[in-house]
Amino acid sequence: MPIKTTVITGATSGIGKETVLALAKKDHAIYMLVRNAQKGEQFRQEVIAATKNKHIYVIACDLADMESVRNAAYTLKASLLAINILINNAGGIFAAREESKDGYEMTFAVNHLSHFLLVNSLMPLLEKGQARIINVSSEAHRMAKPNFNDLQWAKRPYSAWKAYGTAKLFNIYFTRTLATRFGPKGISAFALHPGLVNTGFGVGLTGIGKTLMWLARPFMISAEAGAQTTIYLANATRIDSKSGSYFKNKRVASTSAAATDELGRNRLWDLSMEMIATFLN
Ligand SMILES: NC(=O)c1ccc[n+]([C@@H]2O[C@H](COP(=O)([O-])OP(=O)(O)OC[C@H]3O[C@@H](n4cnc5c(N)ncnc54)[C@H](OP(=O)(O)O)[C@@H]3O)[C@@H](O)[C@H]2O)c1
Repeated sequence: MPIKTTVITGATSGIGKETVLALAKKDHAIYMLVRNAQKGEQFRQEVIAATKNKHIYVIACDLADMESVRNAAYTLKASLLAINILINNAGGIFAAREESKDGYEMTFAVNHLSHFLLVNSLMPLLEKGQARIINVSSEAHRMAKPNFNDLQWAKRPYSAWKAYGTAKLFNIYFTRTLATRFGPKGISAFALHPGLVNTGFGVGLTGIGKTLMWLARPFMISAEAGAQTTIYLANATRIDSKSGSYFKNKRVASTSAAATDELGRNRLWDLSMEMIATFLN
């Protein structure tokens, strides 16, 4: 019997793939939320063959489409009584400003808002499972320029790295608010930086961003190494007292000063709640 029920986004590439392989070996039942069902099914079979764990499942979920996120949450609620681990791993950086199906700026939608909807939709299952929520953030949060009057980058020139850094700062805000609001209900939340990891991340960048990624490539760690802090947070015992913290290399690490802004994180929560309201039921 599986020891834990784990849900993960971004399971079909890079850090997510290695996380799934490691947790499957530890007998987790894993529900992979994927945008490409064929890629998900192929990987599901690879995981079962490699680990002999048959409790691996694929659920369609495009994080650039709130209805798809809502449907994935419905499927999970119809199939499960509780979730023990939720890993919000999927993310990306976008060279030019794009919009999600619902008209939100893509970096904000995929890295933050879709996961915000997912967590809030799954809250009854998370509470039942006394869940640990793990948000894959980044050191790029230090580049953040949060502007609550223009969360969608519609009034300023778009910057791929600033939009990405801001979305990753929002992962830390979200983590801290979850820890504060839902800690009393037995839920813990953690954010992490995985390292500079050689994955599909940033392949769509152009210009200087592409050059920077090319220059950094030789110094990057493998996806397997990049998954270690996520795997640690999913399996470690006695870390609940560190709920709300940001981890690097399996240890609590300091964040930017901006990440400790309580007013900012509460504002993000309220604005995000307004944006998902029609999808939350
Ligand atoms: N690589 C790094 O150096 C680094 C550093 C710091 C933080 N991170 C963070 O680590 C996390 C994992 O990234 P990675 O490095 O493993 O990159 P990756 O190889 O590009 O993986 C990203 C994953 O997100 C999924 N995804 C992207 N857009 C999606 C959407 N609209 N709907 C559903 N799934 C979507 C991708 O799905 P497909 O498989 O279908 O493409 C893929 O599985 C991200 O949150 C990233 O921001 C990475």
